Amino acid sequence: MKSVIIYASTHHGNTKKVVEAISKECGVDLVDATKVPEKDLSGYDAIGFASGIYASKFHQSVLNFASVNLPEDKKIFYICTYGAKGSYKSIEKVTAGRNATLLGTFGCKGYNTFGPFKLIGGTGKGCPTEKDLQAAVDFYKELDK
Ligand SMILES: Cc1cc2nc3c(=O)[nH]c(=O)nc-3n(C[C@H](O)[C@H](O)[C@H](O)COP(=O)(O)O)c2cc1C
Repeated sequence: MKSVIIYASTHHGNTKKVVEAISKECGVDLVDATKVPEKDLSGYDAIGFASGIYASKFHQSVLNFASVNLPEDKKIFYICTYGAKGSYKSIEKVTAGRNATLLGTFGCKGYNTFGPFKLIGGTGKGCPTEKDLQAAVDFYKELDK
């Protein structure tokens, strides 16, 4: 399966660690949506969208990228890292109506020093852990079976 993951990871690089682990192990292409707003995705079998969760949403750059570039009839998957809770609603809204097939979702905790959490040294220190990265790789391998 030829895959690409479109990602944004602006807080601590937590999501980047997750997608890089998958890319390294499984040869998946990566696109940083904060730097590349457009790309022809027609040659990919599966397209992943990955992001930290900011105010309960995927990063706006990933949402914009999906809105502009997601072709019809693709297999898709979602990955997020979060402080407290993953949420896929924002990206689901954008991909709806493209006749996409959702293969699965993966989420794990990421280090978070946003707002008041900074005062207590942040939450999720050391996250994503090695175990999380392995779980992410296993998640992708399972999709690709
Ligand atoms: C501006 C901002 C808003 C955030 N909002 C949420 C939120 O609504 N829910 C949550 O669980 N985590 C929230 N977080 C924590 C991030 O989702 C978490 O740290 C994530 O791993 C960041 O990923 P990144 O390092 O790849 O950017 C927020 C972080 C920031 C900086």
